[in-house]
Amino acid sequence: MIRPAPSARIAPASRIAPTSRIAYVNGRYLPLRDARVSIDDRGYQFADGIYEVCALVDGLLVDAGRHLDRLERSAAALGIVLPMARRPLLLVMRELVRRNAVQHGLLYLQISRGTAPREHAFPATLQAALVMTVRAQARAAGEARAAAGVRVITLADQRWARCDIKSTALLPNVLAKQAAREAGAYEAWLVDRDGAVTEGSSSNAWIVDAAGTLVTRERSPAILGGVTRETLLALALQAGWAVAERRFTVPEALAAREAFLTSATAFVLPVVAIDGVKIADGRPGTLTQRLAQLYRDNLPQERAAGVR
Ligand code: PDD
Repeated sequence: MIRPAPSARIAPASRIAPTSRIAYVNGRYLPLRDARVSIDDRGYQFADGIYEVCALVDGLLVDAGRHLDRLERSAAALGIVLPMARRPLLLVMRELVRRNAVQHGLLYLQISRGTAPREHAFPATLQAALVMTVRAQARAAGEARAAAGVRVITLADQRWARCDIKSTALLPNVLAKQAAREAGAYEAWLVDRDGAVTEGSSSNAWIVDAAGTLVTRERSPAILGGVTRETLLALALQAGWAVAERRFTVPEALAAREAFLTSATAFVLPVVAIDGVKIADGRPGTLTQRLAQLYRDNLPQERAAGVR
């Protein structure tokens, strides 16, 4: 039997049920069940790849410009040649959102160095592989979590020396998140050898000190420069908040006035306990709630993000 071309099998967006998901794989839009990459893909073999997670609100990508900036930085750091220029990449991202008819959720984009017979060193000319998926997420779940706040645990940071690269090599992050879940917590805050918090397994860590200053670790290879972190810092500074990008220790966090985390998936999420110890009265902090509101009110959606 001759199978129809994948594109011919795709229903128009208006007829796609939100559950019938469409993926983008190296130039083709495919039903998720038909989306495949080779077992020789270096992303699969070596985690030799990079990724981005971009939030979707009201069908629009959030902070797409900053996500693409970081994708370009990650690619440059690893010598991966992006398979597509920025503009067409953004068009594909939007088209995938449209085909999936998702209003609220996430877009996942992964670029691996490409497919080649398994050998650690890579061939000079390799076509990078690009995969994207979109997933709907109930808005209410995020709102309920933000209203209640979340618990975090602390764990030793066991990652490599280039955490600023958004690499798909996430094993220490995966294990830390799993440990958090098993401890009944939402996130694990990772602690370096000097006892300072670097960041969460998939989010940036913040505290509000006694003077009301927002504190988050300075950018360096020890953390991922979060897009949400960067946008929130800019908004907070603009609104006249006192902000300090510096290290903070676990005892300092335990004694903080407030704590919270940021990511593309969680936005600004209050932290109400660390290692089972309540932060202040154990309820989401008022300053954190104001910041979360500030972020939501200024949601950097694609048209406002200065996407080139
Ligand atoms: N994680 N730090 C780490 C280690 C992360 O993996 C992430 C994001 C962040 C926050 O970055 P941003 O604000 O750009 O989302 C910080 C994504 C959401 C993930 O891996 O699913």
